[in-house]
Amino acid sequence: MENRSQWGTRLGFLLAAMGSAIGLGNIWRFPATAYENGGGAFFIPYLFALLTAGIPMLIMEYTIGHKYRSSAPRAFKRISSGMEWIGWWQVAISFVISTYYPIIVAWAIMHTYYSFNLAWGTNVSDFFLHDFLQVTEAGVFGSMVPNVLFPLLMVWLIVFVILFRGVKKGIELANKIFIPLLIVSFLLIVVRALTLPGALNGLDTFFAPDWSTITNGSVWVAAYGQIFFSLSIAFAIMITFSSYLPKKSDITNNAFITGFANSSFELLAGIGVFAALGFIANQTGQPVAEVVESGVGLAFMVFPEIISQMPASEFFGVLFFGSLVLAGLSSMVSISETYIAGLQEKFNISRKKAVAIGAGASALLSLFYANQGGLNLLDTVDYFINNYGVALVGLFEIVAIAWFAREINQLQQHANSVSDIRVGQWWKFSLRVITPVVLGYMMLENLRTDMTAAYAGYPVDFLFNFGWMVAICAMAFGAFMAMKRWPKENDQ
Ligand code: ALA
Repeated sequence: MENRSQWGTRLGFLLAAMGSAIGLGNIWRFPATAYENGGGAFFIPYLFALLTAGIPMLIMEYTIGHKYRSSAPRAFKRISSGMEWIGWWQVAISFVISTYYPIIVAWAIMHTYYSFNLAWGTNVSDFFLHDFLQVTEAGVFGSMVPNVLFPLLMVWLIVFVILFRGVKKGIELANKIFIPLLIVSFLLIVVRALTLPGALNGLDTFFAPDWSTITNGSVWVAAYGQIFFSLSIAFAIMITFSSYLPKKSDITNNAFITGFANSSFELLAGIGVFAALGFIANQTGQPVAEVVESGVGLAFMVFPEIISQMPASEFFGVLFFGSLVLAGLSSMVSISETYIAGLQEKFNISRKKAVAIGAGASALLSLFYANQGGLNLLDTVDYFINNYGVALVGLFEIVAIAWFAREINQLQQHANSVSDIRVGQWWKFSLRVITPVVLGYMMLENLRTDMTAAYAGYPVDFLFNFGWMVAICAMAFGAFMAMKRWPKENDQ
């Protein structure tokens, strides 16, 4: 029998799963997505997506990992040999994400450092794009940027150490430190933001419901997309993590706890961010709507300005960017664990070797984003790997399991045999009907958008090479890996 790594405690597993879920997606993606898609009214599609796709898929992935005690590729192979490639495809997607995710953590490390003397000065956007990143136009890579390269090496060093130390002494221990620290620092920021002048105005803008958006399909697509990315679903992560659970583990309860903890953090981030935006709008005399930004712009171009205007700027700067570092690191570790577990099983190699090969290759590729063209490259790869990677593989996963392998009843039995909460019709209907229909619609909507206009106005050949090709190669890699034979002891 295989000597599989195991979490030390239930809390250890839960913290690691929360660490994976709570990431950059919660802090910089959620607030702007919610705002752009109807503010207070967005909570309806969001909650619906959480209850019909997020938590049901999470229960399903936890059950698969626990039942088959394998990384995603071998777990899918054990369900049906024709499904192994879906597991490798997910692993390949996580690999691609792990090449650019640490770059954002590296930026956050540098900004934690810049917070000590508010080095971004008064023209924050200009500082970020030109002084810090030295951005070139899309498709021109230019030279390496030392300000990004050195913190990037630091991120990799931390990730390597955690991964080398294994599941219990590495991932579990790191999350036991990172997550409480993250929650405390983030709470401090939110409480401070709420007590700044203008905060209530920011919250009004955030929560003001625009009910007309409820009937708009793209708002529902945004809600499902947010839930998938934020809960780390279809990334191969949750299957891998639950494969390290002991036999007696309450799966369904764990899924509810992870799902609600992640959404609570997301809501907290929304409140904190919009209170802070209300403050800066108040300081500059602009409406809140004009200071809202999403993603990179929000964290690195709007926040430094807010921080500069706050009392005790340096302290809150360190807390904010430090939180981004902690949230990013814990997610990064989970993303990398998918290919480490996959490589270990497929090639029957030691964990250390798998870390050296998998994370080593990802670290090398991540250097491509540490040059002057890194920001445009990151933006493109991120957009395509999410829309035609995570969302598409999620659709394949659910259709293969629910319709082709007809595995839902067996998974239901397994989940119910170990859990206090029993899943029934709601769970099965969500997985068999609601999730595939919404994901299918989402795919058509995304294709329609991307076929009619070039994403972010980038050159078409750039989008083809670094967007479409990356997404297609991840899928092809899945098929290629599934063709390779398994070593004898893992061949079942
Ligand atoms: N779930 C992770 C995030 O939100 C990937 O960033």
